[in-house]
Amino acid sequence: MNYCLNRIELQQQRAWITIDHKALRHNVEAIKQWLKSNCRLMAVIKADAYGHGAVKVAETLVEAGVDYLAIATLGEGIELREAGIEAPILILGAINTAAEVKEIIRYNLEPTLCTPQQILIFADVVNSLNTTLDVHLKLDTGMSRLGTRWENAVEFVRYLLQFPPLRLKSIYSHLATADSPDTTFMKIQQSRFEEAISRIRGLGVKIPLLHLANSAGTLADTSLHYDLVRVGLCLYGLYPAPHLKNTIPLKPVLEVKARITQIKYLPPNTGVSYGHTYKGSQGIKMAVVAIGYADGVPRLLSNKMKVIIRGRYAPQIGNITMDQLMIDVSDFEDIEVGEVVTLLGREKDAAISADDWANIIGTISWEILCGFKHRLPRIHLY
Ligand SMILES: Cc1ncc(COP(=O)(O)O)c(C=O)c1O
Repeated sequence: MNYCLNRIELQQQRAWITIDHKALRHNVEAIKQWLKSNCRLMAVIKADAYGHGAVKVAETLVEAGVDYLAIATLGEGIELREAGIEAPILILGAINTAAEVKEIIRYNLEPTLCTPQQILIFADVVNSLNTTLDVHLKLDTGMSRLGTRWENAVEFVRYLLQFPPLRLKSIYSHLATADSPDTTFMKIQQSRFEEAISRIRGLGVKIPLLHLANSAGTLADTSLHYDLVRVGLCLYGLYPAPHLKNTIPLKPVLEVKARITQIKYLPPNTGVSYGHTYKGSQGIKMAVVAIGYADGVPRLLSNKMKVIIRGRYAPQIGNITMDQLMIDVSDFEDIEVGEVVTLLGREKDAAISADDWANIIGTISWEILCGFKHRLPRIHLY
């Protein structure tokens, strides 16, 4: 579900996400100021813009001067085109069927080619339609995911050159360890990339665009700012690693809110929620909050997370359930049903970030953000 709410509809919501487009614009500006001159910004908005809503986010990003968009799947690209987004769109994922190639051409999307086999599939379709297509070649310089290994880059490009209707738009690679304070392997990837590129140029091939850096690479080392950087996480106001926080000022874009739906007093030693993993030795005032793991609040946070009410923290208690979770509001005097609780976001001096959740459960903020996709409506604030 991905719709915009007006204020009256918001009053009827049990839980929602807010997307702060001012913060999004601020982050674009902060990133652009950090980039070396002539390096442009490719915004990574796959997975529904990391849970923020791809179409609305894309509209703001394009207005804010982002040059290129990147998504993971054909469907994500089609969604953007059908919504009227006209910026160039790179598909980062691999496409392996002729039917998908036809859709790519139809929707003016730009594919990533990772293998000679893919080149052949694309060339067949492009020839049969008597058209041309801009393509991006992916080299594997050490991520060991998609791409032709850098040692074979020259043969890969030579193969592409046999099919002139496939026009080389960029060559790129992806960093595996850019978020580590130890930059050794990142540098190895960079030198593999540069070596491959210089051998390709040795063939007399002109490569319009080169790109290598994700958010972490972009912040860690400006020598990774080639023609483009592919930035995802930083757009949404989060840092890819603690040691990169002293680089540019970012503002979180997304907040998660839910309403209190019931308040009651529990006597001492009353078990709370499935499995009774919480039992207060003293009686407590408990509130039920209308959000759960089906909305994207990880169940592993049970008994470990806090929420914010009126600028103060309240502990979550008992196992988080599919649609609801419980909090201890004993310290809050006049709390009422219908009050709004902040799960992620800021109220006065209290703040909870996707990093806080990620740290508690041993994951990464990317996964937390992408978790908000099913049931929470989004309210876009401009
Ligand atoms: C190929 C590629 N480039 C860039 C990015 C953006 O990464 P980040 O969100 O860390 O900036 C991703 C995201 O996973 C990716 O897969």
